[in-house]
Amino acid sequence: MKGIVLAGGNGTRLRPLTLVGSKQLVPVYDKPMVYYPLSMLMLAGIDDILIITRPTEIEQFRALFGDGSRLGLRIAYATQDEPRGIADAFRVGADHIKGEECALILGDNLFHGARLPSLLRRTARELRGCVLFGHQVAEPWRFGVVETDAKGNPLSIEEKPEHPRSNLAIPGLYFFDDNVTDIAGGLRPSARGELEITDVLRAYLAEGRADLVRLGRGVTWLDTGTHESLLDAGRFVRDMQHHQGIRLGCVEEVAMFMGFISPEACFDLGAEMSGSPYGQYVMESARTHRDNPVPTELLEY
Ligand code: DAU
Repeated sequence: MKGIVLAGGNGTRLRPLTLVGSKQLVPVYDKPMVYYPLSMLMLAGIDDILIITRPTEIEQFRALFGDGSRLGLRIAYATQDEPRGIADAFRVGADHIKGEECALILGDNLFHGARLPSLLRRTARELRGCVLFGHQVAEPWRFGVVETDAKGNPLSIEEKPEHPRSNLAIPGLYFFDDNVTDIAGGLRPSARGELEITDVLRAYLAEGRADLVRLGRGVTWLDTGTHESLLDAGRFVRDMQHHQGIRLGCVEEVAMFMGFISPEACFDLGAEMSGSPYGQYVMESARTHRDNPVPTELLEY
C-alpha cells in the first residue's frame, strides 16, 4: 500500500507563521508538524510515501527527510502549485500510486491513541473499497460529516454542512483501493471551487464500498489549522509526553518499532541529535528496544 501526506495549502489561517514557510513544518511542541501524520502512515505499515508540498517548500521537506532511506522508507516528493482541493492529491500523486491501494493523511492532522497501531494495520489489511474514520466532535460543521444508520454504517457524507446530520466528523486520514485515481480523475470542483475529498468518499458510498470506522474513546484527534488549535496541540503533546514518559510522532522510534530500521540505526539517528532531549529519548528507546524488542502486534503508541 502506498501513502500520501498532503502538506500543501497556503496556511492562510496561520499567517504570519506561514508567510515564508510551510504550515506543516511549524513546530508542534518539540518537532515539525509533519512528523505526526508521517508516523501514522508508518504505523499502518506503509513505507512508500509521497509528500505533496507547495513548490516553494519542496526543498525544505527534502532537506528534512531526503529519500527516506535513513528511516527505512522510500519518500518521494511532488508539488501542488495551487490548493485545488484535497482530492487533487490523487491527481498529483497518480504516478506514485500506480494503481495500488493508498492511504492519504492531511499534513496538519494529529492522532494519538494506544489502539491506533493495531487499528491502522487491520484497516490496511482488510480494505475493500474505502475506509473513512468518524470521531465525535462538538462543532461538526467545521468538518466533513458522516451520518450513520442504526447499525453504524455510513448513510450520507457532507463537507462542512450548515446543518450537520450527526456529530461524527471525518478526520483527515483515509484508506482507498486501487480505484481512487480513476474516481478522483472524474471529479468536478465543488461550489467552493475545490476537488472535495468528501466527493471521493461519496462515490465509494454510492457503490456500497465505503466502510466507517469510529475512532472512539481513547483516541485523540486534533487538527492544527488555527493559532488556538496549534497551541492546544502543542500543549497536548507536551502533557502526554511529560506524564507518560513517551514521545508522540517520533518517526525514528516508529521506524524501529515497525522493523523499517534496526535499533542500531535508530540509535545513530538519535546520537545526531544528542544535544536535545528528543535525541536522548531516541537513543534510550533504541537501547531499550534492542534489549527487549516489542513485537509489532503488541505495539501501542
Ligand atoms: O481535518 C479534517 C478535515 O480536513 C475534514 O473533515 C474535511 O472533510 C476536509 O475537507 C478537510 O477540511 P479542512 O477545512 O481542514 O481542509 P483545509 O483546506 O484546511 O486543508 C487541510 C490540509 O490539507 C491543510 O494542511 C492544507 C492541505 N491542503 C489543502 C488543500 C485544499 C493541501 O495541501 N492542498 C489543498 O489543495
